[in-house]
Amino acid sequence: MADTIGATLPDGVGMTTTEAPFIELAQQSGQIYVEQPYRLYSADNHEAWRKLYHRMLPRWEKYANRHFLKGIENLCLDPNQVPKLEDVNQFLCNLTGFRAKGVAGYVPAYIFFDCLRQRDFPTTITVRRGSSLDYLPEPDIFHDIAGHVPMHTDKAFADALVRFGDCARTAADFAKSIKDRQEQTQVLTSIIKAMARFFWFTIEFGLMRDPSGELKVYGSGLLSSYGEIEHCIESPDVQRYPIQLEWVINQYFEIDHYQPLLFIVDSFDHLFSLVDQLEEWMKAGKLNNVSPGEPAISEADLQSFLDAQ
Ligand SMILES: [Fe+2]
Repeated sequence: MADTIGATLPDGVGMTTTEAPFIELAQQSGQIYVEQPYRLYSADNHEAWRKLYHRMLPRWEKYANRHFLKGIENLCLDPNQVPKLEDVNQFLCNLTGFRAKGVAGYVPAYIFFDCLRQRDFPTTITVRRGSSLDYLPEPDIFHDIAGHVPMHTDKAFADALVRFGDCARTAADFAKSIKDRQEQTQVLTSIIKAMARFFWFTIEFGLMRDPSGELKVYGSGLLSSYGEIEHCIESPDVQRYPIQLEWVINQYFEIDHYQPLLFIVDSFDHLFSLVDQLEEWMKAGKLNNVSPGEPAISEADLQSFLDAQ
């Protein structure tokens, strides 16, 4: 199916963020999941990957948690060209059963979380432009494959992600049990907001205390940012606190600048226990009225939970 979509495009046409004809065609045909049309990557795409990887390596060695560094080694990522998802999956799948699964862009929230439950990781296949390596609001393959996927090689972390996917299932069941439509929308919006905030302050921007007591990075938004991975550890402007679930679920965040507030877990077993607690609180109705504010929950995200099978 995806092969048909890309068939008319010339080799090397480019798979650049917001400039990928293949992705436009896939989106027009309503596809969420796509194959990775490897021949369409341009020389500039491979060069962007190479630059991103090489400049990041010393910062990973300094600031990343040890599970991530082991993951990078275990995945045998090619530093010089955009990775093939099937190669990544050969190593990844053997370790934790996780697989990177190509997507054509936005994935509605429930579908995204439910993929995690099934150990599939929705993976962006486009690469940021070589001229803007530092910041882009959209995820790209460097964020997803170099930032997220090495964490998925760790069993305890992978189990916490799957457990988070279970929470989405619980949220969908909980919402569907509410008969009044208005109340259902209000409660579900609040629960998804709480889940999105938890995901943001852990999976995307989490810090972890190493056994040695040193602070390390495990959040993928930090692991894929050349500037912020250093800033989040070194800057006196960043507040870093031991994680508290009641704080995280009520804490808004903004995505267009370095994070001023980050939370620390002790281990991935600790993270797992927090996901358990999140689900318990959800079942007890404690997520029904979290503090308003970012992130906004879209109609498509809400509907994806109500459509859950
Ligand atoms: Fe991410």
